[in-house]
Amino acid sequence: MSSTSPVPSPAESSGATALGVDVGGTGIKVGVVDLHRGVLIGNRHVRPTPRPATPEAVADTIGGMVGEVGWHGPVGVALPSVIHEGVARIAHNIDESWIGCDVVDLFDRHLPDHDVVLLNDADAAGLTEVRYGAAEGIEGLVVLLTFGTGIGSALLIDGRLIPNTEFGHMLVEDVDGRGVDETEHLASASVRTRDGLSYEQWAPHVSGVLRAIEELLWPRAFVLGGGVSEDADEWFPLLENRTPVRAAVRLNDAGIIGAAVCAAGGTGPLDLGNPVPRGQD
Ligand code: BGC
Repeated sequence: MSSTSPVPSPAESSGATALGVDVGGTGIKVGVVDLHRGVLIGNRHVRPTPRPATPEAVADTIGGMVGEVGWHGPVGVALPSVIHEGVARIAHNIDESWIGCDVVDLFDRHLPDHDVVLLNDADAAGLTEVRYGAAEGIEGLVVLLTFGTGIGSALLIDGRLIPNTEFGHMLVEDVDGRGVDETEHLASASVRTRDGLSYEQWAPHVSGVLRAIEELLWPRAFVLGGGVSEDADEWFPLLENRTPVRAAVRLNDAGIIGAAVCAAGGTGPLDLGNPVPRGQD
């Protein structure tokens, strides 16, 4: 039984573990999460994202991985798409056949014996950081950005998530004067790798993105995640922004952990405009 609403059922919310799945541009990661500590128990299982990364191929891979882990409880799946009313709405770094895909039906078919909750991957990372990491205890508005194949975003107010923001697709002026483009085309980690940019060369692009966001939202803090946050000491000092910047704590596991939190109902009742899970209506 799948739903896109993280409203907990009593049975789910009493558990101390849940399974999280994070679908990335290059790999699908699965892990069992200790929900008290916000860490993985045992191994992180990784398989290459199928090519093409169609809904059927991705869900089939996830079904196989969940079976291999031998997991029987709730499953949270973090996807690089807006998940709205049970439907994936965009597809920038996955196959475009995700657009309009009924993800509730998809996972009902591929994981029929599990309660499955679906959410955006950066929103999952935001839930992790607000519960166990760099955004914990910050009052007011926090903007989390993940730097990977694209740029994901999560908006957190007083510890609560406003889902499905997409600052990776906000149009900003390129700091090198090459015109206007989407932030993830200017400053994602994959752009840094593709163009062979040093942190000195890349940081101004990140600053430009943060500046555009802080002009509009005036957040209390930015939390920056993705693998590049491991090197925060090298490039955070190069950022020129007025808003305090913190490195995400859970780095590559944040999506898995947040998806598991959501599957276990640990986010409280979020009104996402999603359908009420079956059995509760
Ligand atoms: C997608 C977002 C996702 C981000 C990180 C973007 O291209 O539009 O939904 O959170 O990549 O994966």
